Amino acid sequence: MDIRIRDLSVSFVTNGKNLAVLKNISLGLVQGTVTAIIGESGSGKSVLGAALARLLDPQAVISGRILYGDTDLLLLDEPEMSEIRGKSISWMAQNPVSAMDPLQKTGDFVTEILDFRKAFPSERLQEIGIKQLRRFGLQNAETVGQSYPGALSGGMAQRVLISAMTVEEPEWLIADEPTKGLDAMGRRQVYLNLCQLARERRMGMVLITHDLRLAERLSNYIAVMYAGEIVEYAGTGEFFASPGHPYSRGLVAAQPDKDMKPIPGDITDLPASASGCSFAPRCPSFCDRCSEKQKMVEKDSHFVRCWRYVQENGDTFR
Ligand SMILES: Nc1ncnc2c1ncn2[C@@H]1O[C@H](COP(=O)(O)OP(=O)(O)OP(=O)(O)O)[C@@H](O)[C@H]1O
Ligand SMILES: [Mg+2]
Repeated sequence: MDIRIRDLSVSFVTNGKNLAVLKNISLGLVQGTVTAIIGESGSGKSVLGAALARLLDPQAVISGRILYGDTDLLLLDEPEMSEIRGKSISWMAQNPVSAMDPLQKTGDFVTEILDFRKAFPSERLQEIGIKQLRRFGLQNAETVGQSYPGALSGGMAQRVLISAMTVEEPEWLIADEPTKGLDAMGRRQVYLNLCQLARERRMGMVLITHDLRLAERLSNYIAVMYAGEIVEYAGTGEFFASPGHPYSRGLVAAQPDKDMKPIPGDITDLPASASGCSFAPRCPSFCDRCSEKQKMVEKDSHFVRCWRYVQENGDTFR
């Protein structure tokens, strides 16, 4: 089923201050397709991913709706949500080692959810775990299954986590930085496995990544986040052919195969007026109107939140 995020806002109260981390996010995720979420560190990608699996820090203040079909995930109680988690929507956390219990063997971690659901007789779990580990490129899967997380390299831990999070073949995988910390071979292996899940098994995916090359090769849609907002959304081919938002253009130019020109400033440079565009203080195309909030505009299913883009493209927007 599709997932529709509507006006999702998340904030954290730290030291008596309210920190708005997601601001009125609306995004549609189409069943069986891959949406890549890209954006600099701190833009709120992981918070969005965790919200989809209802695994946010209990301190988080959440409003809005996350509709999975007609069900609002934010209204479910925990037993109802745990029926959906893993089976329908599986979240692969950004830091694989911290997602695991240091005292649990990795093989048991991979099949934990099957054990929880009593989906298979317990004597079959070990064999299923090993098969799953092997599928994700761990050749010495028997030994890996018997080891504890502390004994794994970063790359192995990443593969163990993917194995665990896809063991139920969920309809949706939220993969937060699945290739982080892997060498070129490891990245390729994970890429091929994700491809197989996406293309052959039609597993829908939310791919959170800094790796634009991976996003370009694997995703159908791109959503660009900046300071807790979606600033651009388009089909992947269209996005890379003509990124519309100055921030997106900066991200694309910062890639190794392009100019590798970093965007000056950082995400903590926030505008003086909270109502303006968050990127304005760093924007090379800044104009007078940027102190006013711009809504998303759409042209041929390419959505951009930028006054300059509106100027450049005439007033042909919906
Ligand atoms: N539990 C929390 N309490 C307070 N602030 C939080 C919490 N979790 C996240 N944040 C803040 O929310 C913002 C977005 O964090 P998030 O981890 O989603 O960024 P990100 O886009 O995933 O970054 P990265 O690319 O580095 O993974 C950051 O400012 C972060 O400090
Ligand atoms: Mg993150």
